[in-house]
Amino acid sequence: MKKIFLVNGSPNKDGNTADALRVVEGVLKENDLDTFWFHLGKSPVHGCVNCRYCAKVHRCAFRDDLCNELIEGFLEADGIIVGTPVYFAGPNGALCALLDRVFYATANFGQMLKDKPAAAVATCWRAGATPSIDRLNKYFMYSQMPVVSSDYWNGYLGSRDGFGTGVLRTLGENMAAMVQGM
Ligand SMILES: Cc1cc2nc3c(=O)[nH]c(=O)nc-3n(C[C@H](O)[C@H](O)[C@H](O)COP(=O)(O)O)c2cc1C
Repeated sequence: MKKIFLVNGSPNKDGNTADALRVVEGVLKENDLDTFWFHLGKSPVHGCVNCRYCAKVHRCAFRDDLCNELIEGFLEADGIIVGTPVYFAGPNGALCALLDRVFYATANFGQMLKDKPAAAVATCWRAGATPSIDRLNKYFMYSQMPVVSSDYWNGYLGSRDGFGTGVLRTLGENMAAMVQGM
């Protein structure tokens, strides 16, 4: 069974970002896809220091945070959905610190994620979802990963956001179709 990697880029394991990803997950499961999760959590993460250790081994030299675990998930997945809370109209900085290292190791030095469908989802209180999604899409587009779309931008305002829930459900349908070869 094909597997979709759900990356919760929030420090909260059960917050709005996880809730948004669970909406997509429900549709993926209805379409016979398996899922597995990554939670960023609250532990500190390093930023990239451009040591280039990853150029040959495609793993990060820092082993005391979640970067290498995240790399394994990206490599194992057939499709990827990255969720973030909006912080000052951008993605969570800790998530970007990890993703800089994931994509430097796997894409800059090898294009190892090429052809894996991916999408970004952002949750917010009021505004800033679209620049956050744009920022996350940059990682995928750099890496030759097809960006899966919905029928609106993938912003989500919480469990009472009926419109956002519909957008996320459509995203799940489109991810399933893409991964299963249409
Ligand atoms: C540091 C910080 C900055 C935030 N900036 C924004 C913002 O620019 N726009 C917005 O609508 N919400 C903002 N929020 C609210 C969060 O995006 C929102 O509560 C989000 O759904 C939290 O997701 P979570 O429950 O998965 O952690 C901010 C929250 C924090 C902690």
